[in-house]
Amino acid sequence: MLSQTNAGTSHKKLLAWVEELEELCKPSLVHWCDGSEEEYDRLCAELVDAGTFVKLNPAKRPNSYLARSHPSDVARVEERTFICAATKDQAGPTNNWEEPAKMRATLRGMYDGCMRGRTMYVIPFSMGPIGSPIAHIGVQITDSAYVTVHMKIMTRMGRRVLDALGTDGAFIPCIHSVGAPLAPGQQDVAWPCEGEIARKYIVHFPDTREIWSYGSGYGGNALLGKKCLALRIATVMARDEGWLAEHMLILGLTSPQGERTYVAGAFPSACGKTNLAMIVPPKGFEGWKASTVGDDIAWIKPASDGTLRAINPEAGFFGVAPGTNRESNPNAMDSMKANCIFTNVALTDDGDVWWEGMGPAPAHAIDWKGREWTPETNEKAAHPNSRFTAPIKQCPSYDPAWEDPAGVPISAFLFGGRLSTTFPLVCEATSWQHGVFLAATMGSEATAAAIGQAAIRRDPFAMLPFVGYHMADYWAHWLAMGKVAGLKLPRIFRVNWFRKDESGKFAWPGYGQNMRVLKWVVDRVHGRADAVESSIGLMPRYDDLTWDGLAFDRDAYHRITDIRRDKAQREVEGVATWFAKFGDRLPAAMRVEEAALAKRVAAQPETWSA
Ligand code: GTP
Ligand code: SPV
Ligand code: MN
Repeated sequence: MLSQTNAGTSHKKLLAWVEELEELCKPSLVHWCDGSEEEYDRLCAELVDAGTFVKLNPAKRPNSYLARSHPSDVARVEERTFICAATKDQAGPTNNWEEPAKMRATLRGMYDGCMRGRTMYVIPFSMGPIGSPIAHIGVQITDSAYVTVHMKIMTRMGRRVLDALGTDGAFIPCIHSVGAPLAPGQQDVAWPCEGEIARKYIVHFPDTREIWSYGSGYGGNALLGKKCLALRIATVMARDEGWLAEHMLILGLTSPQGERTYVAGAFPSACGKTNLAMIVPPKGFEGWKASTVGDDIAWIKPASDGTLRAINPEAGFFGVAPGTNRESNPNAMDSMKANCIFTNVALTDDGDVWWEGMGPAPAHAIDWKGREWTPETNEKAAHPNSRFTAPIKQCPSYDPAWEDPAGVPISAFLFGGRLSTTFPLVCEATSWQHGVFLAATMGSEATAAAIGQAAIRRDPFAMLPFVGYHMADYWAHWLAMGKVAGLKLPRIFRVNWFRKDESGKFAWPGYGQNMRVLKWVVDRVHGRADAVESSIGLMPRYDDLTWDGLAFDRDAYHRITDIRRDKAQREVEGVATWFAKFGDRLPAAMRVEEAALAKRVAAQPETWSA
């Protein structure tokens, strides 16, 4: 019979909900997580026994583990992600939709007995500092110990959250199953999941604020506090309550004079948020300090002093491993020295990890599929979307304000896609409304979660897969935030680190050198830097940026900032096509900006130079 660990709560609604799910999912055990180190260690040991985890060499990587997922379960599945609002129109043209009652019936069928032979973990978690007015609490049910130990790193979880909930506190119910029940005596596999893509479901019910995820154990599909709660459900809450839930990093920049400015930046998945969040000021920026509040998600609420205050709702990084090395991101490398979980990277012969772009390749390794690998092997040793999971507090650039329940005041928003040909290094919006237009029309080249889609897709606000309602209404919400009386609105910038030259090489050095753009942004915020007006926005001239410590001449600068009329005209046409998708729902202000852009482009010289 069921042996249930002491729940340690008298929250009636929560107890009833767990009981109901227990009846539906039919686990062999229910475990209420207390969030202790002992619990974490015990679950990791069980994962090693089960073959899910490989314990890494403690001399090289103390208290750390490697997991290899099933080859079919390596990234978010956008095509199986649903926003089940009451009507299709409410979900909008950019989301998958199914009628809520029909979806509920389907899910009930899938979940019936889905945890047979497994433990059902109950994970109370807080997104944000417990008790912060910006934070929210969720409770995740899962049959995955891998997910449970991730939730320990990625959120504040366990008994203290139950205490905060008290007897009747509000929580967002998050239900997760890997979708692989075990028959009596059946041997488990290292990475249980539903192998058939059409039987995976990542479902959101925005009206009742519920999440049901089935069939995947990976990242954003399974760590439901992350994209499902902190973005898709939170965007709905933010719309209703007058705040912002965004796919943004949060970065503090302190000048040599000690002036601290916080910026938040939205970049699509695998487009450099973690790098920028942990930026190291390069040569020429002596005395500047950059500090990390968050690398993926920002919750931003208006404070009584009129500032927009942001928290990072997460407690850890779930960062892309490939390309991360001592030069590109020393802070990330230091964050994962110990107490870290790696998923789908390669295992070296000395019991450590390796991935493409980490440093010299080992002579031999075990690849992410568990096979022998040498540098001669024609496949990558690590999956391109392999990840490290590390506590944010281990980051050397960690900003103590991460724990501040009041959040940090945001002075600027950055929006940046991966665009190798057209968009310039940086431009500033001429108004809030223009900034919303720049963000709403942002494009980016495809990354792991969007493979199979067109090479370039519009990814408005880097939120295309993450807005829990109609995209055009989301833009209207941003526009409405700009009209709230007394709000000190951040300035809005578009950036692009990804311009390439004719030979296909990146034309901008990026990484630490992005600090040059950040300094201009900070100086604009404080009214200290000049800009010139182009057809697409306000841009720095070569001499408006600081070039100390970097050889990057005027010609090179023009190659990544000049605006060609023919290309800009194509962009105007692209915007028209994009906006057509939204019909009547498109806010009138977006049409105004579209027309203004077309007019400015028509009037610009064949090649405009800053
Ligand atoms: P998610 O965690 O998926 O939301 O993405 P993220 O935006 O945090 O991704 P991450 O920072 O890990 O992006 C990694 C990718 O961006 C790697 O391919 C890096 O090489 C690339 N990248 C980051 N910064 C720069 C840069 O300044 N220039 C160039 N060219 N590439 C960069
Ligand atoms: C992203 O895809 O934007 C991520 C990784 O941050 S995941 O948590 O899997 O969504
Ligand atoms: Mn992300």
